[in-house]
Amino acid sequence: MQQGTGKQRRKWRIWHLVLAILLLAAGGVAYLYQQLSRPLPPGIIPAGYTPDLQNGRNMYLAGGCLSCHRGIGPHAELPAGGRKLKLRRGEITVPNITPDPETGIGRWRAIDFVNAMRKGLGPDGTHYLPSFPYTSYAWMRTEDLLDLFAWLQQQPAARNPVPREGTWGRYLLAFWKWLALPPRPFRDVPGKDATWNRGAYLVVGPGRCAECHTPRNTIFLLDRRQWLAGAPLITGQGRAPSLRGLKRRGRYKDVNDLMQALKYGEAMGYQDLSAGGMGEVQSNLSKLPDEDLKAIATYLMSLQ
Ligand code: HEC
Ligand code: HEC
Repeated sequence: MQQGTGKQRRKWRIWHLVLAILLLAAGGVAYLYQQLSRPLPPGIIPAGYTPDLQNGRNMYLAGGCLSCHRGIGPHAELPAGGRKLKLRRGEITVPNITPDPETGIGRWRAIDFVNAMRKGLGPDGTHYLPSFPYTSYAWMRTEDLLDLFAWLQQQPAARNPVPREGTWGRYLLAFWKWLALPPRPFRDVPGKDATWNRGAYLVVGPGRCAECHTPRNTIFLLDRRQWLAGAPLITGQGRAPSLRGLKRRGRYKDVNDLMQALKYGEAMGYQDLSAGGMGEVQSNLSKLPDEDLKAIATYLMSLQ
């Protein structure tokens, strides 16, 4: 009898301990989730900053925003959204980012935009799906984001409601982003000249070249050891080729040759710059200033 109650009591204690550990773990996860869902404070925006609209437009082109956010019908030249983006599994409707106050981002503050681009976080706390390539845009400097936002807010507003895709998986994204997002914007690499660093910035950040040209591991993180080494496209069809060893493999003679290819594409007889979304990337790049194209070519030709 005596022995029986002793055993039972021990059993109860173990269960209490297990329960306490589970509660603590759940609390820990909830706390971590809350920490990971915190937006950047408005204080990170430099006071009295005057945006450079020309630079904002260049960031829009380099970032290829229209490629995905392109509207339908009369809104085809505006980032009014509404098109479906094909993914390997399923598809996602792309939102309206014109300055329409009701259906676009007209009511957003600059800090809301910075949080979307750098944290993949909406003003209402939504965790964005990584088909919005914020994992690259997060490398962009605050000033460039502010210029881009100011430029976007100056474009015509298009009324086009796009319902947001609801999935519970968005909560898990908080943890994924912890691994996927860079801790800070791009910083120049010491020992490399200004042109190389400008090119690296444009490729890594706004240009989002790695989103297609770098392979991903099983949990969809870019594989940094195979940086720009070529990868299957996320649409599930086709492949983006390697951007390493472009000179060694005889793809381009020199920096100038690659710069011409990026500027004129297949119109000037350069091959392999049109399929799988690259045509639109190239046509956007062609509108950038020559120094920026030269910078991109300089960086790419340095990859072994
Ligand atoms: C590869 C396709 C793609 C490109 C390129 C892209 N976006 Fe998006 N963007 C998306 C998708 C998809 C979403 C919706 C994500 C979601 O619902 O979680 C989105 C969402 C957004 C949002 C949030 C809008 C809202 O209503 O909450 C903003 C802001 C945005 N993008 C800005 C930009 C800007 C600026 C650029 C260019 C620098 C850009 N995007 C380039 C696909 C893209
Ligand atoms: C939407 C996916 C996507 C993005 C983003 C993208 N590329 Fe590509 N890229 C491709 C595909 C696909 C090809 C092959 C096109 C073909 O074969 O016609 C390609 C081809 C190329 C080539 C030709 C390679 C060769 O061997 O001649 C270069 C150079 C290139 N991309 C540079 C870039 C740069 C620079 C960026 C960023 C500014 C970029 N790409 C962004 C998909 C992409």
